[in-house]
Parts: sequence; C-alpha cells; structure tokens
Amino acid sequence: MAGFTLHKLHDSFGAEIRGLDLSAPMDPETCEAVTQAWLDHLILLFRDQDLTPEAQRKFCEQFGPLGGRLRKAEDRPEGRDAENIMLVTNVRKNGVPIGSLPDGEMFFHHDKCYAPEPDWGTMLYAMEVTRVGGHTLFANMYDAWETLPNDLKDRIEGRQVLHIYKYLPTERVDLKEDIDKYDHQWQPIVITHPKTGRRALYVNELMSAMIEGYEEDESREIIDRLVENVKSADVIYDHKWQRGDLVMWDNWCTMHARTDFPRDQTRMLRRYTISGQALSA
Ligand SMILES: [Fe+2]
Repeated sequence: MAGFTLHKLHDSFGAEIRGLDLSAPMDPETCEAVTQAWLDHLILLFRDQDLTPEAQRKFCEQFGPLGGRLRKAEDRPEGRDAENIMLVTNVRKNGVPIGSLPDGEMFFHHDKCYAPEPDWGTMLYAMEVTRVGGHTLFANMYDAWETLPNDLKDRIEGRQVLHIYKYLPTERVDLKEDIDKYDHQWQPIVITHPKTGRRALYVNELMSAMIEGYEEDESREIIDRLVENVKSADVIYDHKWQRGDLVMWDNWCTMHARTDFPRDQTRMLRRYTISGQALSA
C-alpha cells in the first residue's frame, strides 16, 4: 500500500486513512491508491491535517476539476464565498453569517443532486468544531438500495425523481409553489455509479420532491418510506468532527445530514467539491 494505512469507520462503509499529510502533493501511485480506497469505502477521513485554502484546493484538484457553485453570488449569504469554495459556518459579522448553512440541523441530502451534472465529491475540512452536536451522518446508498424490500424496489425501479433545493436546511419545497424559482432536476431514482458500475439509491429527505408516474400524495409516501428505510437500516456512519479533520465523500453513492448544535458554539468548515457528470440509471 502506498505509504498509508486504512482503518474502517463502520461495518458498511467509510475508512480513515492514516499516514498522509494532505498539504503535500501525492505521487501518482499514492493518488491512485487513495482514489481506489475512496471508490471502495465511499467516504474517507484524514485526521490532524493543517490545510490552508490553497493546500485544500490543490489536494482536491488531484481528483479532478473543482465543482462550481450553482447559486449566483448575489443570492448567497453576503455573497462572500468565492466560486469554488464554501465556508460552512455559524460565524457572523455584524450579525450576518459570513458563510453558508450557518445553524442547526440539516436533513439528509446529496450535494448538487438538483443540478444536471451532480458533483462527484465533496471535501470538508474542519477548522473549528462544536463541543457537542454538529455531527455529519453519512448513509451508504449502495447498501440502501440492496436492502430495500422488494415491493418498494418494484415501485421505483426505472423511474425518475425530481430533486429541488430551496437552499434551506430542513424545509422542502411545496409543489404548489412555482418550482422554477428553485434549482431542480429530474434524475434516475436508482443511478449506476459512473466509476464503479454499482447501483445506488438516489433519493433523499430534503430535496427529493416527486416520483415520476405517481400522484403527489403517493409519491410523498414512497419517498418517506424510502428515507425511513435508509435511516433504519444499518448503513449510517455518524461522524463526530475534530478540528483538523478532512472528510471526502462520494455524492453519487452516499447522502449526508447534520445534527443540531448549540448556536453559541463556533463551527467553521471549509468545503470544496469535485465536479461530476450527468447520471444515468
Ligand atoms: Fe451537503
């Protein structure tokens, strides 16, 4: 193995990699081994990293071009985040958040599933973390698909799902609203991962609004059942952040959520994404 060791985070998926300093460039062999570990384990954790924005960006770019932001700068909080970088923080200046998604819980979602070409990866680096709460929960969506009851599989197989993002952490779009106001995209409800060829359930709690071919109520009931099924299956890894953690996750085969945390504790994470492609069934 290329100069690092792997330690499993959960029976279902996830691995911590020890022995790498991410602020230094990887040689091609190491990069290939980390990429393979990522595809095999879905999320990777690196602890005790010391990363400037530039170093984090360079680390990300070893896996592919950076993903951009869909939301226009003027619509973002304060318009301060640059094109490729997002600060996920509750830090405020003159009462206004300096980044995005400042407070509290966030429902399960896939980053950028509401875009035509969803990002492959997200890399989040913890600069300051809360003493309690603010965990990130990750779900293995390959196993989520495989463990679905057959009747539920039959009801969704071959269909499309509409993902809409209202840019709020625990509020779904009401379909009676004009959805053209929001970023939205139809996607296959079960996707084939472009790099592994494995099938993954591509439905989430926050953004999945409608399944093709069903009335609104039935569609909602199926989405809720799917999400409940994922939550009750043993496919969720609960990540408790430490300062210096970098976690990279695959958005095509995992979804993630954030647990609540006290408003008076500072939380500051820096995010880059790796661009993706259109997804097919
Ligand atoms: Fe996210």
